Amino acid sequence: VVTPEFTRGLPKAELHLHIEGTLEPELKLKLAKRNHVDIGQATIEDVQKTYNYHDLASFLAVYYPAMNVLQTEEDFYDLAWAYLTKAAANNVRHVELFFDPQAHTSRGIPFEVVLNGLYQATIDARALNVDAHLIMCFLRDFSKESARKTLQEGLKYRDKIIGIGLDSDEHNNPPLKFARQFEDAAAAGLHITTHCDIDQKDSIEHIRQALEIMEVERLDHGTNIVEDPDLVELAAKRQVGLTSCPLSNSFVSPEMKGKEVIDLLNAGVKVSINSDDPAYFKGYISDNYYALAQKFDLSQDQIVQLAKNSFETSWISQRQKQLYL
Ligand code: HPA
Ligand code: ZN
Repeated sequence: VVTPEFTRGLPKAELHLHIEGTLEPELKLKLAKRNHVDIGQATIEDVQKTYNYHDLASFLAVYYPAMNVLQTEEDFYDLAWAYLTKAAANNVRHVELFFDPQAHTSRGIPFEVVLNGLYQATIDARALNVDAHLIMCFLRDFSKESARKTLQEGLKYRDKIIGIGLDSDEHNNPPLKFARQFEDAAAAGLHITTHCDIDQKDSIEHIRQALEIMEVERLDHGTNIVEDPDLVELAAKRQVGLTSCPLSNSFVSPEMKGKEVIDLLNAGVKVSINSDDPAYFKGYISDNYYALAQKFDLSQDQIVQLAKNSFETSWISQRQKQLYL
């Protein structure tokens, strides 16, 4: 049987984690005080009371304003360090974490303040035995022009970034809107992935664009792909990683999408389990594995396969992968 100790002890990679989504109420209050930002909340209970969401849009409406407390390089360092110590406790050996530069530059925080704080934490995480890397996301509800400028900034720090992602509000913001920026990023040697959130109006079309036209290496969420057997076959053939996030799903949808995960495992698609925004969706990565195993009666072998998939679809070198597999 699958126990919490089993899911915690299993060596794993985390591939779908928004560092801003690890901002726990306690740290939020501490940073508000340190930076003299009035967030209108004084206690942990006050903060938690604002956590009302039932879909992607209502979640994002809580999520972005909370970032106002993040101001200095030290704040970004503290945020990432807090997550990385939790990752170590969950036996996460390798993490590729998302950050949203435009969520900060758009409110006057310089790009390098964000990047330097996060990057220093990834360096220091080596002492925790966690191999940590940064994926820069474009906000898909911002303009192409804004993404272009953000990529230009990011390329100044090419060595500190492993890849490019796409997040925020998917409605009317298809992956193809950013085809040019993804092409430029790939040409610069960056890896590419995009969110294809669950239950979106144009899920299948967005997944099709991402796989057939933009040739991304992973899909973040993306489990709606089961509606289209041809796309499932393509994802299996190309070994595309699908980063599913069960607890996140259970907040923004009536479903955890466990049946989809099982179908994808059976179809040979490299699906993995991740935490997305753990401070908001009530659970870190091991909790996600455990919740899914409980609800859908997964075997230890299935859990091990999911963890293997996380290393296989990570962006570490072939040689490094052999250490884990
Ligand atoms: N989808 C879109 N935007 C996000 C997410 C997500 O899962 N998490 C944080 N920002
Ligand atoms: Zn996400």
